[in-house]
Amino acid sequence: MIMIYAHRGASKECPENTMPSFKRAKELGADGIECDAQLSLDGVPMIIHDKTLKRTTNGGKKYVKDLTFAELKQLDAGSWFSEDFKDTRIPSLEEFLVWVKPTVLLINIELKNYSLPYEGMEKKVVALIEKYGLEKRVTISSFNHESLRLIHKLNSQIETAPLYRANLYKAWKYAKKIKARALHPKYHNLDGKDIKGIKKHHVKVRPYTVNDPSWIKQFIDWGVDGLITDVPDLALAIYKKEHP
Ligand code: G3P
Ligand code: MG
Repeated sequence: MIMIYAHRGASKECPENTMPSFKRAKELGADGIECDAQLSLDGVPMIIHDKTLKRTTNGGKKYVKDLTFAELKQLDAGSWFSEDFKDTRIPSLEEFLVWVKPTVLLINIELKNYSLPYEGMEKKVVALIEKYGLEKRVTISSFNHESLRLIHKLNSQIETAPLYRANLYKAWKYAKKIKARALHPKYHNLDGKDIKGIKKHHVKVRPYTVNDPSWIKQFIDWGVDGLITDVPDLALAIYKKEHP
């Protein structure tokens, strides 16, 4: 059984990391949603990928961290993608959690706290997950693995998953060392032997960001636990074809 996570929501069809993109991912039948979190100037966890506002909003070159929640909420996070999404707003993490709670979707919150420190972010994110009772449905991932250790200390029910780009030797050993129950590696360095080793040691593995149909099929055949993809509908169709 594989879990398909929609990367930044249904980001091929809608502006990434917005409510329309999350809602569309649900409609497409995704099992889960991956989203990226940063903090506003006044410390509110917001869902947006880049450090600056330039690419996905009309906020120009400013940094996300330099605007308050109220200021970020003024921005248009949809028009860059298409006029159909004009005036779509940057969602707060809380807004997303309120929407996702009554669904059965799995949640992967990626903390973007590796090149900017975002001090205190872990406590704020864990508090929100606890507020909505979502500990068992959330995986927190990050390239900042110290941060994941802190998350585990704050609430060991919440699964953590280190993100990494190059291959790790005996990745499952590293996962266990930092108390992570899952690994989120970049897909292109992985082979069947790595996956086998990770699975044998009961660590979950969900490569990112797998969009190519032949890679999707390959990872399904290797038995990964999940895939993070921009094309959840395609991944689901490939999976269903193999597992009617
Ligand atoms: O969480 C997997 C993936 O999203 C990591 O890279 O840059 O797309 O956030 P990025
Ligand atoms: Mg991400």
